Amino acid sequence: MPDEQTTTPGGDTGESKAFSPDIPFETPGFFLRGSASLDWGMKNRLSRIFNPKSGRTVMLAFDHGYIMGPTTGLERIDLNIVPLCDHVDVLMCTRGILRSCVPPSCTKPVALRVSAGATILKDLSYEHVGVDIEDAVRLNAAAMAVQVYVGGEHEHDTLENLTKTIDAGNRVGIPTLGVTAVGREMVRDARYLGLSCRIIAELGAHYIKTYYCEKDFEQVTSACPVPIVIAGGKKLPELDALKMCYNAVQQGAAGVDMGRNIFQADNPVAMVKAVCAVVHELTPPADAYQMYQDMCHQA
Ligand code: 5RP
Repeated sequence: MPDEQTTTPGGDTGESKAFSPDIPFETPGFFLRGSASLDWGMKNRLSRIFNPKSGRTVMLAFDHGYIMGPTTGLERIDLNIVPLCDHVDVLMCTRGILRSCVPPSCTKPVALRVSAGATILKDLSYEHVGVDIEDAVRLNAAAMAVQVYVGGEHEHDTLENLTKTIDAGNRVGIPTLGVTAVGREMVRDARYLGLSCRIIAELGAHYIKTYYCEKDFEQVTSACPVPIVIAGGKKLPELDALKMCYNAVQQGAAGVDMGRNIFQADNPVAMVKAVCAVVHELTPPADAYQMYQDMCHQA
């Protein structure tokens, strides 16, 4: 066990670490990192989430309302989000929005947000699992998403939420997406994100959403034995958001789970197409931005 006296919050005891980012992670028998030993149903759902050709995914996150209410761009899901659904690989939302706004004829896989419990008016980390596994099955969820606050006041409870969701999902073949939520007191650096992602993977999450960090992000992806997708975070200028996507996939991310940088863009359909070009075809950000501008002018 590490000695608490000499170990930093990142679990770093001072000796150099061998992340070996240049050596690809072997994925024998299945295209997705760390998923070769899973059952058929799990693999099939993961193959709907991640494109088997590129090995990556573009998830559209629009679950923000469960903590933020009708935030900018999500005032009318029927008008602002439904037209984007055809252009992405996966939809990430709550069951309330899925049932009330997303047409059941939409065949895109759904990553169902199953944790909840606090809002932006309270301590966000105080979450519980709010959806039972039968309802996830009824909704034909391709994955369940649970937020974890490593280092937060309610770390223990959120890790228990994660574990319970993974166990329930394992019984029926639905993978769990572990979301690294970063409390206000935490720094979004490679050490913290690497610690958080690895803990979530060790507990059995099938893939992980985290944030991109400018420095040493490849250490976060290298030390995580399951795929990582990045959240977009607050709205950036479109070119900067595309650069972030590009850098993340070049440094080992298996795609994005992006919300505000898509639905708050000047032209969300053009933005989602540009993000897909970067993530699946590794289009350089300047070219993808040119595509974005051309589509804006044609609109
Ligand atoms: C909101 C979430 C979002 O799904 C996540 O943060 C991705 O969205 P964005 O790209 O806007 O950060 O967990 O609760």
